[in-house]
Amino acid sequence: MDDYQKVADLVKEKGYVVAFTGAGISVDSGIPAFRGGQGLWEKYDPMEYAHIRAFSNNPEKVWVMLREMSQVILDSSPSPAHLALSELQRKGYLKAVITQNVDGLHHIAGNSNVIEYHGNHRWLICMSCSKRTPLSPEIVSVQPYPRCEKCNSALKPDVVFFGEGIPMLEVIRANDEANKCKVMFIIGTSGVVYPAAEIPYTSKSNGATIVEINPENTPFTSSISDYFFKGTASDVLPKILEKL
Ligand code: APR
Ligand code: ZN
Repeated sequence: MDDYQKVADLVKEKGYVVAFTGAGISVDSGIPAFRGGQGLWEKYDPMEYAHIRAFSNNPEKVWVMLREMSQVILDSSPSPAHLALSELQRKGYLKAVITQNVDGLHHIAGNSNVIEYHGNHRWLICMSCSKRTPLSPEIVSVQPYPRCEKCNSALKPDVVFFGEGIPMLEVIRANDEANKCKVMFIIGTSGVVYPAAEIPYTSKSNGATIVEINPENTPFTSSISDYFFKGTASDVLPKILEKL
């Protein structure tokens, strides 16, 4: 029996599946990952462009990178892997998605219990009055950077910058799901950013079976992954669903 069938049987037997996703699941949606090859952090130093101090000191400079990222996100749509996770929820197996991604594509693909650990770039938030504004090509084009229509302060994407904490509600929800899950899919993440990368270890320590999908090995692969599919999410996930 091949591993696709083994994992499908495991999903049917165990029933409570949680997906932990990273930028790799959105590569097939046209959104480059952050690390490796053409990663965003090869072009923009994250400490200069994705740290909250850098944004507060020079929003105009950081919006150069944010404008590029916003356009890519606005142009993106769910990959076959996003759609496979939505199907896995419809079949009653997938109970939650914990994502590090800020592209909002799990929601658009139809998943409902999505924990956006690093926030959502499709909303902008005011640095002073916290008023939220939906992302749009019009607001992104405002020079030198988008401002709040209420108090005229700088707007930033409602995402967690380096140097910021994870929203407490997301931490609580993610820990709850990590403790409850019986099977965790780790999909398209390099597993190097904490505290997010702690989540699969929590599931493993609670007895979950870990199924990892990534073209490359990661720190999870040799430590906690029970199944490792060396490949892309859009290729591997639909093959597992075919066996359900
Ligand atoms: N399918 C599955 N995995 C893929 C694919 C693909 N098509 N293409 C690339 N990958 C893998 C890469 O091998 C890599 O392990 O996806 C991973 C992407 O890693 P990163 O770019 O580091 O993204 P991620 O792990 O999500 O980063 C975590 O870091 O910069 C911060 O806040 C940002 O949420 C992000 C966090
Ligand atoms: Zn404001």
